[in-house]
Amino acid sequence: MKEAVLVVGATSSIARSLASKMGQQGTALHLAARDRFEVERIAKDIAIRYQVPVSWSIFDALDRDSHADLLQKALDHLDRLDGVAVFLGELGNQEKAQREFDCAEQIIHSNYTGVASILTHAANYLEKQRHGFIICLSSVAGDRGRQSNYVYGAAKGALSLFLQGLRNRLAKSNVRVLTVKPGFVDTKMTFGKSGMFLMAKPEQVASAVIRALQKNKLVVYVPWFWFWIMLIIRSIPEFLFKRLSL
Ligand SMILES: NC(=O)c1ccc[n+]([C@@H]2O[C@H](COP(=O)([O-])OP(=O)(O)OC[C@H]3O[C@@H](n4cnc5c(N)ncnc54)[C@H](OP(=O)(O)O)[C@@H]3O)[C@@H](O)[C@H]2O)c1
Repeated sequence: MKEAVLVVGATSSIARSLASKMGQQGTALHLAARDRFEVERIAKDIAIRYQVPVSWSIFDALDRDSHADLLQKALDHLDRLDGVAVFLGELGNQEKAQREFDCAEQIIHSNYTGVASILTHAANYLEKQRHGFIICLSSVAGDRGRQSNYVYGAAKGALSLFLQGLRNRLAKSNVRVLTVKPGFVDTKMTFGKSGMFLMAKPEQVASAVIRALQKNKLVVYVPWFWFWIMLIIRSIPEFLFKRLSL
């Protein structure tokens, strides 16, 4: 067995592609997601296809009391843990979130608080072990607040900063932290949404994540041109930006 990796939010289109690619490379996996039937189906498929150990468990970002147990469950199945990859996220409904803060709060918990919680457990374990990696999906939406999705964007922006701090903390423990910032990706999250352009495929994002990990990258925009798009968007002065319909 090459490596042992915990994948959180494993029913995400991008996560299942990454898990499949890792399985193909001989990585043992523990998949965690809130959809019991789908995560079991994905786990069995990868195990049969690539003849690697793949176990699974239930994970809900909003049920924070269960997060410490998740790491233990992964260790019980895998015996060791070299990496933790976190994919969960929820775009949510911006208009509803503006009217009802309960809706905004759920977006914040699904994209930031719940993710920060599982990352904290993962970081504490890997720090003690003094080896390993964390992969976490943030978004270009976190690079600048826009009227069309600033609740989701704010949660992702907070997550990007959290990951930056974690990377700084874990550097001396030989634990790598990779922040992934995709642009638009053709997944369940964006299905049927208007205003999407330069859409990437989930497999493209998964391959870019694996390449970035192999090259020890710290932050990666996927596809790469989003780095330049966001550089331009971030550099627009605020007095102009506030007038744009973005
Ligand atoms: N698609 C894009 O354009 C895009 C762009 C930038 C960043 N991203 C980020 O990429 C990551 C993967 O998303 P995706 O595009 O692959 O979309 P996706 O297929 O909709 O995956 C989202 C995943 O998050 C899970 N999830 C949501 N809320 C959860 C909760 N409270 N507890 C546990 N799991 C929860 C979903 O579980 P269920 O299957 O049960 O719903 C699903 O597995 C996310 O962090 C997303 O924000 C996506």
